[in-house]
Amino acid sequence: MTPPGSVVVTGAASGIGRAIAQRLAADGYPVAAVDLHVEQLEAVVADLRAAGGRVVAVAGDVRDRDCHRRARAAATELAPLWGWVGCAGITRLHDLTDLDEADAREVVDINQLGLLWGSAEAVDEWTTAGRPGVLLVISSVHAGHAAERHPVYEMTKAAAEALVRSVAVTYGPRGIRAVAVAPGAVDTPALRASMQSAADPAAAQHRLEGFSPAERLARPEEIAAVVAFLLSDQAGYISGTAIPVDGGWTAVLARESQDAEARRRS
Ligand SMILES: NC(=O)c1ccc[n+]([C@@H]2O[C@H](COP(=O)([O-])OP(=O)(O)OC[C@H]3O[C@@H](n4cnc5c(N)ncnc54)[C@H](O)[C@@H]3O)[C@@H](O)[C@H]2O)c1
Repeated sequence: MTPPGSVVVTGAASGIGRAIAQRLAADGYPVAAVDLHVEQLEAVVADLRAAGGRVVAVAGDVRDRDCHRRARAAATELAPLWGWVGCAGITRLHDLTDLDEADAREVVDINQLGLLWGSAEAVDEWTTAGRPGVLLVISSVHAGHAAERHPVYEMTKAAAEALVRSVAVTYGPRGIRAVAVAPGAVDTPALRASMQSAADPAAAQHRLEGFSPAERLARPEEIAAVVAFLLSDQAGYISGTAIPVDGGWTAVLARESQDAEARRRS
């Protein structure tokens, strides 16, 4: 397959974004890889180039609109822009009764406004050039489902899916698709750090694995594979929706036993 153009991937230095950049570069897409953590980003980009990828690093903060302008310029220099993957995101856990204002603003600024600025840049590029394109957003099972201590995160992920619908409806007639990918628990440095901060990290991991009938965490590559499909023409009629990649987690009404070992024996 000859890729139809370049792709911007935000949050490309770690976890899911890194796996997406790796997969798309391996598929032959020219990639503009964006991240705040410059050293980590440059190491990822160096690896991808060594493997033959056409990848450039764009060091920047998605809260800053200029970061997205630079990403757009870097991607279009490689090839006409085909895709924009908004993956950079963070989680900070609070209940409404112990909200930390600085944390709440940071989550909204990165997960929600960072996505808005990037989406605006991508749509402007496609409409100005009169070209089709695909906007992909890494949402979460939390967009449509609630868990304790996640109100701010859940608000931002629901907003991300609302943005996807808006772009799909407004710009669909110009050949622009927009899709959210909603992962369950994915084995990334961010998730590992949150499990490590639990009183009993092994129990926290076991509990998270047991939420989905798959009884394991997703691998970042499994999210990247769905992103690669959604960018392709095979997904040409998918737009304005969210695709869960959660091992069946959101299908669960109840499970007979919370004990994975007992379930395996039964
Ligand atoms: N890991 C999971 O279980 C999981 C599940 C559902 C959704 N997600 C979503 O997937 C995305 C990636 O999560 P991850 O687990 O791979 O996290 P991660 O921390 O491993 O990677 C996130 C990357 O985003 C970058 N980033 C953070 N803030 C940034 C900013 N302001 N500007 C530029 N880059 C920034 C970080 O430097 C990091 O490289 C997030 O949007 C997250 O909400 C993760």
